[in-house]
Amino acid sequence: MKTIFYFPEDKALAEYLAKKMGIDLGVAEIRNFPDGETYIRIISQVKNKSVILICRLDHPNNKILPLFFMAKKLKELGALNICLIAPYLPYMRQDKSFKASEVVSASVFAQFLSSFIDQLITIDPHLHRIKDLSEIFSVPAITIHLTRDVAEWIRANIDSPCIIGPDEESKQWVIEVAKSLDAPFIILEKIRYSDSNVKISIPVSMDITKTPVLLDDIISTGGSMVATIRELINKGFKPPVCIGMHALFNKNNYNKIMKSGAKKVITSNSILNFSNEIDIGDVIFEKLKFLK
Ligand code: R5P
Repeated sequence: MKTIFYFPEDKALAEYLAKKMGIDLGVAEIRNFPDGETYIRIISQVKNKSVILICRLDHPNNKILPLFFMAKKLKELGALNICLIAPYLPYMRQDKSFKASEVVSASVFAQFLSSFIDQLITIDPHLHRIKDLSEIFSVPAITIHLTRDVAEWIRANIDSPCIIGPDEESKQWVIEVAKSLDAPFIILEKIRYSDSNVKISIPVSMDITKTPVLLDDIISTGGSMVATIRELINKGFKPPVCIGMHALFNKNNYNKIMKSGAKKVITSNSILNFSNEIDIGDVIFEKLKFLK
């Protein structure tokens, strides 16, 4: 028997999945003490049940401890196993030591999660120098791709698109999306000078009559999008549509992207944000359907 537990911000996704799968929603009391520390009580019976636990892990520092508490208690109460659904997997961008003695947070975070869950399901994690999640997780870690949904959004909303990836890492999504739309694509070159300062160059000539669609996995400071938009507009392109699978940005960074000349910025609800237009419910359901 399966049951779905969730944190408050994940309620809508949990309800959607529970209904589609025809399984129970677990009941838990989760609240903060006046000092900000977290109180958790599991109310539903979980003995001998497989638990699907949903936790959006963007801005993870305040979420990881409540997740750990919840998972520990579920196991203590007899849950058979815990499959964590973390639509956005944080800390993946620090995937090597660039300077001596830096923490490689991607591996440490993965080891920590592996110590208290039995399985992970996540959406398009930032895989760059780490090529597969199995390199850092010691429990099964399943990647779901959002490329089909991104392609569907583009097909429904954009005439004659050209898919543009701002850097080498974006190639993996850009090629998939372009292929399913039968659209041209191009991968640009990015040099990162600091957290928010990057330089983008366009290595080959491109057809400027198409609608440029910038596609990246994460939009954070917006620096990559802004630099790419400026470069494209300088070269005579139409205002680009920007798609980020995971929206870490705030309103200020969003405004910065719009002011630099974007036509629109859209993201998936792997992270809840005002820019969400691509829903992750069905891709997660498709994966869960086949989970034992
Ligand atoms: C890193 O290479 C990622 O794929 C994104 O390009 C990056 O995280 C975007 O960050 P920002 O919005 O801060 O430029």
